[in-house]
Amino acid sequence: MIMPVRNTVLDIINLGVALPAGADRPFAVRNISFHVDTGEIVCLLGESGSGKSIIAQTVMGLLPKSIRATEGEVRLLGEDVLRYAPDQLRAVRGVRMSMIFQEPMTALNPVMTCGEQVDEMLTQHTALDAGARRKRILEVFADVKLPEPERIYASYPHQLSGGQRQRIMIAMALILEPALLIADEPTTALDVTTQAEILRLIRQLQREHQTGVLFITHDMGVVAEIADRVVVLQLCCNRRSSRTPRCCSTRCRASIRRRAWWRPSRSRRRYSPCASSRRPTWDATGSGASAKSLRRSMST
Ligand SMILES: Nc1ncnc2c1ncn2[C@@H]1O[C@H](COP(=O)(O)OP(=O)(O)OP(=O)(O)O)[C@@H](O)[C@H]1O
Ligand SMILES: [Mg+2]
Repeated sequence: MIMPVRNTVLDIINLGVALPAGADRPFAVRNISFHVDTGEIVCLLGESGSGKSIIAQTVMGLLPKSIRATEGEVRLLGEDVLRYAPDQLRAVRGVRMSMIFQEPMTALNPVMTCGEQVDEMLTQHTALDAGARRKRILEVFADVKLPEPERIYASYPHQLSGGQRQRIMIAMALILEPALLIADEPTTALDVTTQAEILRLIRQLQREHQTGVLFITHDMGVVAEIADRVVVLQLCCNRRSSRTPRCCSTRCRASIRRRAWWRPSRSRRRYSPCASSRRPTWDATGSGASAKSLRRSMST
C-alpha cells in the first residue's frame, strides 16, 4: 500500500514550558505533542489561560526571559528551534515562520507608515531594490484586499480600521511566503462581518501558498469555519500535576464537557451549522468521545 507523503512543517514533541517561581503553576504547559503539515489549518483550541499563546511564543522564540521551554522539541521544517541561537531565530522569523497577533495595534509601530513597516521586513530579508520592494508591497496589499494600496502604504496604523490593520499584519506575515503561519486569536477583536472576511482571507491565502497554519482560538465558531484538524488543550486532570494544561485524552473527557467553552451555544447562529464540506478531523491526542460529541454538536 502506498502511504501518502506527510510534509510536516511544525512538529511539537513533549513540550514543557516552565513558569517563573511564584506563578500560578510550575509549568504553563507540559507533555504537548502535535504537528502541522503543509497546506493544512490546525486549530489549537483551549480555554483562557490554558497556554495557547505560550506555545505560540515558544515556537516563535518570543518567550519573555523568565519563561523557558525546559522539556521536549519544537521542530520547524525538521530543525529544533529550541536549540537556535537568537540570531538564527531572527533569521527564520518572517521567512520560515511568522505570526499574526490578536491586537494589531500592539504589533505595529505607531510612528511608521504601514508601507515602511512592511518595507523594513523586505529590506532585512531580501536583496530587492527600493522600487521592487514598493511594487511587491503594493501587490501584497492588493492580495489581502486592502482598498487603495497606495494610500494605505502612506497611512499610519491609527488611520486605518481594525480590520484593515489586521490585513496589514497578514500582508506582513505572508509577504516572504513562510512555511508556517501562527495566528493567535487574530479575529477576536473584530466585528462578526470583518471576522468572517479575515477568516476567508487566511483560508484563501493559505490554500494559494500551501502554508501550514496553526490557528489559536477559544471560539468554536472559528473552529467550525476554518479548521482541517483540531488540537484541544485543557487544564489537566493528571493528579501529579493537577493544573498543567496538556493535549487532552479520553481520560479527560468528563472534565472537558464541564468547560463552558466546550459547549457551543445554540443561540449563537453563526457558530453552526458547520458546513458539511468543512468538517475538521480531530488530532489523536485531542480525540475521543469528547471530540465526537463536539463534532456532533457543531453539525446540528
Ligand atoms: N509573563 C508571564 N509570567 C508568569 N506567568 C505567565 C506569563 N505569561 C503567561 N503566564 C502564565 O501562563 C498561563 C498561560 O498563558 P497564555 O497567555 O498562554 O494563555 P492563553 O491560553 O493564551 O489564554 P487566552 O485565551 O486568555 O489568551 C497563564 O495563565 C499564566 O499563568
Ligand atoms: Mg492567548
